[in-house]
Amino acid sequence: MVRLQMALALSADLLPAVVRWAAQSTDLAVTAASPDLRGALEGAGPPPDLVVVDDVVLRENPGWIGRLREQGLTVVVLGAEEAEAFRRALAAGAVDFIRRDAWAQELPAVVERIVAARRPEPRPLLAVFSPKGGVGKSTLAANLACAAGGRTGAKVALVDFDLQFGDLATLLGIEPRATVADAARLPSLTQDALSRLLQPVEKTAVSLLASPLNPLEAEEITAARAVEILDALRRAYEVVVVDTALGYTDVNVAALDVADLILVVLTPDVVTVRSVVRALDLFRDGFQYPPEKVRLVLNRDGTGLRRDEIAEALGRPIDFGLPSDGAWPVRAANQGTPLWLMNRQSQFVRATERIAEALFPRPQPARRPRALARRLPPLSLTGRG
Ligand SMILES: Nc1ncnc2c1ncn2[C@@H]1O[C@H](COP(=O)(O)OP(=O)(O)O)[C@@H](O)[C@H]1O
Ligand SMILES: [Mg+2]
Repeated sequence: MVRLQMALALSADLLPAVVRWAAQSTDLAVTAASPDLRGALEGAGPPPDLVVVDDVVLRENPGWIGRLREQGLTVVVLGAEEAEAFRRALAAGAVDFIRRDAWAQELPAVVERIVAARRPEPRPLLAVFSPKGGVGKSTLAANLACAAGGRTGAKVALVDFDLQFGDLATLLGIEPRATVADAARLPSLTQDALSRLLQPVEKTAVSLLASPLNPLEAEEITAARAVEILDALRRAYEVVVVDTALGYTDVNVAALDVADLILVVLTPDVVTVRSVVRALDLFRDGFQYPPEKVRLVLNRDGTGLRRDEIAEALGRPIDFGLPSDGAWPVRAANQGTPLWLMNRQSQFVRATERIAEALFPRPQPARRPRALARRLPPLSLTGRG
């Protein structure tokens, strides 16, 4: 929970009511509350992020107006709607101006916007799953991780939760020094300790947490531990992509539960489509996942059943298609290089890039809280109003 440290410099008629309101907000902690600016800014509490100041106080403390701005604080001014008050607010570098008598209606929304702007972006966790083997799950997971990092510059963790038969290390040409089993044995799952177990995939933004080298180690990894590992990775990396095992093992279901998005990979044949029908039923009725948590990826699109036939059988549309790409995916796997590095123009990579584009839109420039200047009536500013 992000708590905004707020100092209040308000005259005595406003102060008690605003303090009472702030005490009820879980987003706010009041660092100081004073009828003058010195008391609000130099109190014993921690330095504030936000100062809510009354124009009456600004008027009485002219020497402090410039200092507010210099300290780089976020300032909100409450005042009467008049040119002088607007000017003082501008000089103080205020991000917002609220009518004094409307504070109870307007201040909560302004604070909410400021809190929202400071909240870190949620860190997406994607699980790549299929009820059938050999459909392209690992090939997609590896290349999607590369594409996600390439698009956004984000640090990506790729996790091989196919604990018995995982092959991401081989696909990516990595000799694992440590694996999920080592992560599960860590006495304390700190970000630092965990990050040391991942190995970078050269020339990409991806780091791999490989599956255990000995299939018997898989039994040591509990679902609870798997969730702790994923939570710690989510804190340390900006994107987490999990390749899953076949079937509904405890660890698999734990990963599916905590995922923000499940990419279900299928191929256009009757056997696979039938299994996916059952998987989607289980997701909906058994696991109670909302439909938007699941996306369908049709690999080898165009080589068997048609998309519309599959969509009809599944009762929902296919979200993404990946073409059959001849020998390219196998060639890359044999070289131990992500296809994403080996041939960016290959059809498989281009289609993977389109998935990354849809799932990881480039970050928008952060929106400033509504700029004060836009709310100022121009006539007031020139003094002719
Ligand atoms: N679209 C595709 N075109 C060509 N070969 C593919 C394609 N998708 C997967 N493959 C190949 O199919 C095999 C199985 O893919 P893999 O990703 O290991 O499947 P899974 O992880 O679902 O078992 C691999 O040899 C891979 O290179
Ligand atoms: Mg696999």
